[in-house]
Amino acid sequence: MASIVLRDIVKKYGDGFPAVKGVSLDIADGEFVILVGPSGCGKSTLLRMIVGLEDITDGDLEIGGTRVNDKAPRDRHLAMVFQNYALYPHLTVFENIAFPLRLQKGAFPESEIRRKVELAADTLELREHLERKPANLSGGQRQRVAMGRAIVREAEAFLFDEPLSNLDAKLRGQMRTEIARMQRRLGTTTVYVTHDQTEAMTLGDRVAVLRKGELQQVASPRALYEQPVNLFVAGFIGSPPMNFVPGQVEGDRLRLPFADLPLDEDLRTRIGDRALVIVGLRPEHFEDASLLEQDKVASGFSFDCEVDATEWLGSELYAYIPFDTHPDVAAKLEDLDRELDGEGMRTQVIVALSSESRVRDGSAARLWYDPARLLVFDPETGVNLTRDDDVAAQIDAENEEDRKASLERAQAREAREEDDGGAAATGRHRGGAPQPATG
Ligand SMILES: Nc1ncnc2c1ncn2[C@@H]1O[C@H](COP(=O)(O)OP(=O)(O)OP(=O)(O)O)[C@@H](O)[C@H]1O
Ligand SMILES: [Mg+2]
Repeated sequence: MASIVLRDIVKKYGDGFPAVKGVSLDIADGEFVILVGPSGCGKSTLLRMIVGLEDITDGDLEIGGTRVNDKAPRDRHLAMVFQNYALYPHLTVFENIAFPLRLQKGAFPESEIRRKVELAADTLELREHLERKPANLSGGQRQRVAMGRAIVREAEAFLFDEPLSNLDAKLRGQMRTEIARMQRRLGTTTVYVTHDQTEAMTLGDRVAVLRKGELQQVASPRALYEQPVNLFVAGFIGSPPMNFVPGQVEGDRLRLPFADLPLDEDLRTRIGDRALVIVGLRPEHFEDASLLEQDKVASGFSFDCEVDATEWLGSELYAYIPFDTHPDVAAKLEDLDRELDGEGMRTQVIVALSSESRVRDGSAARLWYDPARLLVFDPETGVNLTRDDDVAAQIDAENEEDRKASLERAQAREAREEDDGGAAATGRHRGGAPQPATG
């Protein structure tokens, strides 16, 4: 296992298209990093450069401290799992998993191949399917075979390119947990491309957000959610997405299309002499004021509004509230919406209320928001003016602590299972057990 370091990585395709424009990223040994971003932002290109399927136009790529720009894919000792699995239909599950070992002709005696394949099959709960053919397996099982092939290679790192996008929602959920567990158990450095919100937020130790070939922010999921660096990241992370509305600064008040609120000293300093800003409000931070205690109502700002449509989902209630935008920010917000593959709903606010709320289509509602949770962005550059670097660093530090603790727990659990089962145990890897491939 190894660290992966990208320094100013650039990719210009043959037709001159700049797909990746100078990306730098430090991935620690054993870390699980997610690459996200809209379609065409360069995620697959970056992954393919790491694995060696695509030439690097400029910059340095280091794996385990060695520059590998000019090394062939097989000399980089990485294992890639693709969206379409790339299994051999005529081979059994066993032979599919054994394939990379047989490829290194004579490198492994038959008994060694059997041992490695069975170890991987145990990890992935494929033991009873070893003699079956891929065509007869479910999507999730095929996915696991593809992962088994990555495991037996005892690679320095796993690279995944949207491995779950072909699966239905339920299976995707199962496989997501499976991949997370396997990664903790093996402690293998992992880079995982997705444009699925949930995968990005739940799987990764850190998430790297890409936009048009440029890295926007690399941080823990919580830091991205709470302390995004700009409009793009704020709009990309979160579902339903963050609402953006124009905010007009008038003295010590901030006028939103549906509410007028006082600006505290800190916010006024951050806004400076801007007369117009873009304000970000997360749907889940709104509350139905009629359901709150008086104390809480007084602690935030409340406003009356007309509700256009509602969707009751059992766990919560979505309400859509139209608003008049401001011509000076309308174009910017429309561009952003397009870029984020949005639904062109930038003239209504979506709020996620408690499912007990009685707010319904066409009714008037009194909503509540905590002003401390407002995000304020520069209307030109999109920079988040409310971001606090110290708080962001603190969140990332806590995240790193949690990661280490969970890695230790996973490894202790492994050790316990092995001790309990003795020699006939499940044969699962102890965390960190696979030896880095040599040569
Ligand atoms: N072989 C190629 N030649 C020229 N341009 C390419 C080539 N492959 C990809 N591109 C361009 O590079 C950009 C990045 O492509 P890439 O496949 O890395 O995007 P992606 O982020 O993986 O998107 P998706 O989420 O749709 O898979 C795109 O604009 C694409 O058109
Ligand atoms: Mg892709």
